[in-house]
Formats: sequence, structure tokens, C-alpha cells
Amino acid sequence: MTSQSNEANQNIYDPAFVADLFDRCSSNYRKWSAVSSFGFIYLWRRQCVARLIPPKQSGAIAVDLMAGTGEVWPHLLRRFPNLDTVTALDISHRMHLEAVERLHGEFAHKITHLEADALQTDLPVDHADLVVSTFGLKTFDTSQQTVLANQIARILKPGGSFSLIEASDPKGWMLRPLYRFYLDRLCRRLNGFS
Ligand SMILES: C[S@@+](CC[C@H](N)C(=O)[O-])C[C@H]1O[C@@H](n2cnc3c(N)ncnc32)[C@H](O)[C@@H]1O
Repeated sequence: MTSQSNEANQNIYDPAFVADLFDRCSSNYRKWSAVSSFGFIYLWRRQCVARLIPPKQSGAIAVDLMAGTGEVWPHLLRRFPNLDTVTALDISHRMHLEAVERLHGEFAHKITHLEADALQTDLPVDHADLVVSTFGLKTFDTSQQTVLANQIARILKPGGSFSLIEASDPKGWMLRPLYRFYLDRLCRRLNGFS
């Protein structure tokens, strides 16, 4: 059996499969997310953070779900300099490692790393003033997205605010075939699948 047919038999929404996938692409992730979005991803992350409602009190806690290499933290900490902690939750060990290597010294003391499945997090009830997630939703099917929504409702304090962003499959868009070619062929190759 070839690696291609092995992969075809995989459940792409299985958290273990996703963790392995991102472990393997962790060193290239930052570069390719920028290239594939033509640099727009930086702006989109900033826009996602801009939608958050500022916490009323200082010393607030933010949770970054599917944090990856921590690309959203500079936006978060620039907009909310009085945040006490950003809890960075991600299932991929290597994405956390990449994030640590990338951490700006000025932010390091504010980040708490949590290697966990966002669908089963044991973060406490009413833990967070803010919940943010950038480009992690595509790794879930619709029933998992419902579980995630319940998790967000559980960990968010009353009056807290959340903002999530994801790229959609641009059905009806003239350039969709090019986009699908990029996603289906180039990304898979770059991520180590032949
Ligand atoms: C496309 S990356 C997004 C990373 C980052 N938020 C960004 O803006 O670039 C998706 C991330 O979601 C993580 N992830 C996928 N499923 C997860 C799960 N069930 N629990 C926690 N993290 C998960 C992956 O490990 C990966 O780091």
C-alpha cells in the first residue's frame, strides 16, 4: 500500500492525525501560511483581534485556541498590553516548540503553553476574559465545531468576548480552481505527503 492510499484512509479530523500533521509541517508553517495568503494572513489575524471587546478590569486572561506558532500573540498583546496571561492551547508539540523559539523576549513571561486537545480541554469554567482563534477551525468537522463552541462558552467568563477567524472554500469564486490546486496539491506536498 502506498503512502498516498494510507493517507486516503485516514480520518483527517482525528485529533491524533491532526497533531501528527502539524508536528510535521511545524517548521514550514509560518512561511507557508504567509505565502499562501499573499501576506494577508497578518492583516486577518489583526482584524480578528480588533473584534474583541476590551476586558473591563486589568490582569485579564486570554486563551488562544489552536495557537500554533503564536502568530496572533503580538496583535493580542499590542492591543491589550495589560493582559495578565495568554494561555496558548495547541495539540501539536512541535508547533509549541516553534512558538517558543519564535517568542519575543518581551512576551515570553505572558504566555502559558498548554499541549491539549481543544475539544477536551480541562481549562476551568469561567477562566477567560477573551478567547481568540485564528485559522484553527478547519481542522474540525461540524460536530466537533459544536463541541468547540460549547468549550468556548464554558471557559469564557460572563461578559467575556471571543473572536474566531477561518478561511473558507471560495465556492463560486473565479480563482477557486487555483486556490484548490494550491490547497490540495501544494500544501500536501509541503506538508510531507506525496
Ligand atoms: C492552521 S494552524 C493555525 C495556527 C495559528 N492559530 C495561526 O493563526 O497561524 C492550526 C493549529 O490548530 C492545531 N489544532 C488542530 N486541532 C486541534 C485540537 N483538537 N486541539 C488543539 N489544537 C489543535 C494544530 O496543531 C495547529 O497548530
